[in-house]
Amino acid sequence: MVTKKLIFLKETESTNNYANQLVLSKAAEHGTVVLAQHQIKGRGQQGNTWESEAGKNLLASIILFPYFLSASKQFYLSKIISLAIVDFLKTEVNNVFIKWPNDIYIQNKKVAGILIENAVTGATLSSSIVGIGLNLNQEIFISDAPNPVSLKNLTGRDYQIEDVADEIWENFEKWYRKLESGDFTGIDKAYYENLFRINEWNIFLKDGVEFEARITGIGEFGQLILTERNGKKSEYMFREVEFVI
Ligand code: BTN
Repeated sequence: MVTKKLIFLKETESTNNYANQLVLSKAAEHGTVVLAQHQIKGRGQQGNTWESEAGKNLLASIILFPYFLSASKQFYLSKIISLAIVDFLKTEVNNVFIKWPNDIYIQNKKVAGILIENAVTGATLSSSIVGIGLNLNQEIFISDAPNPVSLKNLTGRDYQIEDVADEIWENFEKWYRKLESGDFTGIDKAYYENLFRINEWNIFLKDGVEFEARITGIGEFGQLILTERNGKKSEYMFREVEFVI
């Protein structure tokens, strides 16, 4: 179970950094949500920066202490936050997908990114910071991030950031309860149903070389399982392979 406690910041370096400081100083409670209007050094995957115009988008980090979750199952946190965001987006638009491993796409464009930072003690997780950047009201993107889009770009409407945060939080609680109850099969099923280009032939890039394959599964640790035309099956960890869209 997670009970939400909200910390609202006008400006911070990065909500993940702020959350991390709270965890380190032992001042954080399970279920704390750090929400910011603006990040000076918003962080993305692979050391990238996360672009977000002040006051326009959802920038949040959820602090969790999922002691029950074995380290080998940590990718389930990525699955459930992705599903929580997708559930919300589907109330607004069609063609919403989870692009492996951590992106949320609408059609062929990225509307949200997720940056999860876990600490492991022994065989289980001791803390997790689940960072979410969801483009809501920003209309023009200036960084060189590929194919960004906001919900407003697609619907023409403005969104109340805190209302969206509440809805995603409610969805997240539901998925978190499933995780606590050990319903991995239910989570996997929903994840597959929403996975971008599952079973479709697609071009992937590994070490600068393009190859054709289709996604035929996600492994226990979140590895991407690709099958090539000749039947060859391979598994890839994060960053080992990327989509060519
Ligand atoms: C990605 O590169 O796709 C992940 C982006 C994650 C951005 C969010 S915004 C809130 C939280 N704080 C950060 O500094 N990063 C994450």
